[in-house]
Amino acid sequence: MIHLENVSKVYANGTQAIKNLTLDIADGEFVFVVGPSGAGKSTFLKLLIREEEATNGKIVVNGHDLRNIRRSQIPYLRRTMGIVFQDFRLIDKMTVSDNVAFALRVVGASDSIIQRRVPAVLRMVGLEGKEKCRPYELSGGEQQRVSLARALVNRPALLIADEPTGNIDPERSIEMMKLLTSVHKKGTTVIIVTHEHELVKSFGGRVIRITDGKIAADAFLPKKAVSAAHNAAEKEEFLS
Ligand SMILES: Nc1ncnc2c1ncn2[C@@H]1O[C@H](COP(=O)(O)OP(=O)(O)OP(=O)(O)O)[C@@H](O)[C@H]1O
Ligand SMILES: [Mg+2]
Repeated sequence: MIHLENVSKVYANGTQAIKNLTLDIADGEFVFVVGPSGAGKSTFLKLLIREEEATNGKIVVNGHDLRNIRRSQIPYLRRTMGIVFQDFRLIDKMTVSDNVAFALRVVGASDSIIQRRVPAVLRMVGLEGKEKCRPYELSGGEQQRVSLARALVNRPALLIADEPTGNIDPERSIEMMKLLTSVHKKGTTVIIVTHEHELVKSFGGRVIRITDGKIAADAFLPKKAVSAAHNAAEKEEFLS
């Protein structure tokens, strides 16, 4: 699904944000991307969605080779993915419902699909009652959930989230993670950038650490609760 080969990104001002990165993410994986501020995590995501173009190297996402994708094909690439941006990118003029519906309208979904799916996805992220609000009338965590609803409403094969728990309290973070886990269980590939080590440890999974534009580690981390369990019976309990 995602293949990067010797990928580098140098921004116009000369900053080398990604350095010779090689990586594969298979269909159906659940991946955390961690690393210090400025390490290149958002740049890595922006390369995947073709918001930024690689300076060197090969990137293939959902069958699209991004080196020679035409501008007119980029919307088709984006239709295969849902994106939760670090800065939400909601449209202030539109209500919560319209922000989510917009993602369906741009792909030409029918009114009946829009009427069915928008309330359902807003319910799923716990935003019923907020449909008519504008984004600026919501808390940071609520805006983040609108952003997640908008990313999910197209039922994407790949969900990319940049710091989806960055603006919410620990309890809400866990709820957000559970939502992302349930989306993953339905077959979506999920890539999450996060600073929250405790969250990564308690959920576990593949963890890719980016430091200074390079992969510093790429390993499978068991669930904290599971690895902390002393015996098999306890492990069973944690896993059930
Ligand atoms: N548009 C840009 N032009 C120039 N340099 C940029 C641009 N965007 C990011 N950078 C630089 O590229 C490097 C990587 O930035 P990036 O946003 O990918 O980091 P990050 O790991 O997402 O950080 P954070 O955890 O703070 O979000 C940083 O040095 C940053 O200053
Ligand atoms: Mg970032």
